[in-house]
Amino acid sequence: MSDPWQECLEHCVEVATQAGKVIREALKSDIAVMHKSSQVDLVTETDQRVERLIISSIKAKFPTHSFIGEESVAAGAPSVLTDDPTWIIDPIDGTTNFVHGFPFVCVSIGFTVKKQIEFGVVYSCIEDKMYTARKGKGAFCNGVPIKVSGQEDLSQCLVLTEVCFKKDPHRFDAMMANLRSVLTIPVHGIRSPGSAAVNMCLVASGAADAYYHAGIHCWDMAGGAAVVTEAGGVVTDVSGGPFDLMSRRLIAASSRAVAERLTRHITEFNVGRDDADGS
Ligand code: IPD
Repeated sequence: MSDPWQECLEHCVEVATQAGKVIREALKSDIAVMHKSSQVDLVTETDQRVERLIISSIKAKFPTHSFIGEESVAAGAPSVLTDDPTWIIDPIDGTTNFVHGFPFVCVSIGFTVKKQIEFGVVYSCIEDKMYTARKGKGAFCNGVPIKVSGQEDLSQCLVLTEVCFKKDPHRFDAMMANLRSVLTIPVHGIRSPGSAAVNMCLVASGAADAYYHAGIHCWDMAGGAAVVTEAGGVVTDVSGGPFDLMSRRLIAASSRAVAERLTRHITEFNVGRDDADGS
């Protein structure tokens, strides 16, 4: 039987490639920075332009499909996952990196049907690495199959997470306590590349062994979660329960053993849900 979503995946790769070109061009000129929820929640005209480009290109080809896009939601669009074929888009994942020319900047797109991720595309456009994953068909970087490290011992792991201060001191304290708890296991090290989707692709390709984060969004997770799963990794909630795309929390790991052990070192804190207003 032919794959009903193959055409969507092909179009997704095309549009991510175009978006990546726009982002690379924009890096050559001055970048005007605006703020969203706080002084450290950055957005640029390029984020907004690239999201419009992606959505208009997909809409022209697939007019009945639904969208959840980071900048559309910031502008007031609903963030509700339905059973419809839905494109979940982060036009620039790593906006702070983009503003500083730090080279982990990607276009991240996940595609769901009946709330299940069918495929993910993450284009790390400065590195020129195109990660793709189709459910049941493996994960690839620039067309070459990728695999997680398979590491099962957390003490042998290179772990990724993100460190930032976003208004709430309680969340900051919990995040620092988690960092301390994981570092003192001890693990081989913790890195913080600045893009959730790139973090997941690093785990998927075996360059890192685990990534944990509470406080990100469905558009940061959808594309990368497909890549990790198809590369043989596991994606779970930070509690160890099943991964929930709208929960704003995840662990992506090289093995279930690493994910499970990591949950024991992470104290959960409330980050709300992406669909809190809608379902
Ligand atoms: C951000 C990145 C970053 C994470 C932030 C996200 P954005 O996405 O994924 O790694 O720490 O929480 O908001 O805003 O650059 O698309």
